[in-house]
Amino acid sequence: MATNYGASSNDNGNGALLAGVVGFGLGIAAAVGRKAAVQAITASAGDWFEGLKAEHKLAMGIIETLEKTTEEDTKKRAALLFSLQHALGKHAIQEEDVIYCALRASGEVEAANELGQDHNAEVKQGLYDLEQIDKASPAWLTRLQELKSDIEAHVREEEDVVFPKLYASLSEEENKKLTKRMNFEGFKVA
Ligand SMILES: [Fe+2]
Ligand SMILES: [Fe+2]
Repeated sequence: MATNYGASSNDNGNGALLAGVVGFGLGIAAAVGRKAAVQAITASAGDWFEGLKAEHKLAMGIIETLEKTTEEDTKKRAALLFSLQHALGKHAIQEEDVIYCALRASGEVEAANELGQDHNAEVKQGLYDLEQIDKASPAWLTRLQELKSDIEAHVREEEDVVFPKLYASLSEEENKKLTKRMNFEGFKVA
């Protein structure tokens, strides 16, 4: 009776090793492709300002969908909260690591610091609280609405006051460079 030693019996396990290496390579390629697809939503909007506006809209869309959920929809709340955390996490990196730094470089140190403070004290805290609060309790929706109004005020400050000023203070070339830099940072965490 023939003994089955498996696929590695006649190649000293190299076949399995190779399959593993190929799989790992494909995994990286798939991850890079997924990241590129995620960042494309921002990049295809246009320059850095348009890209950030598109992300604000996307985040607000997730929040509005969350507002329509009920206390029975705990799984849906958890899944959408995960999407919101990912979207806002990437958004914060792009702003904090690139745009707010460019703001400080243009002389708007106070504005940059205040916006950064909003991210930490309001947005990150809000997302943490939504993670902690029982998704089947009425307190969850109350906290979501608080976070929504904090984000709305922050977005108005960025889109109506701070960002247009920064955009106008930079040359076309400088805005292009900033767009490239921001999309690269976004891609890393996409
Ligand atoms: Fe922001
Ligand atoms: Fe923003």
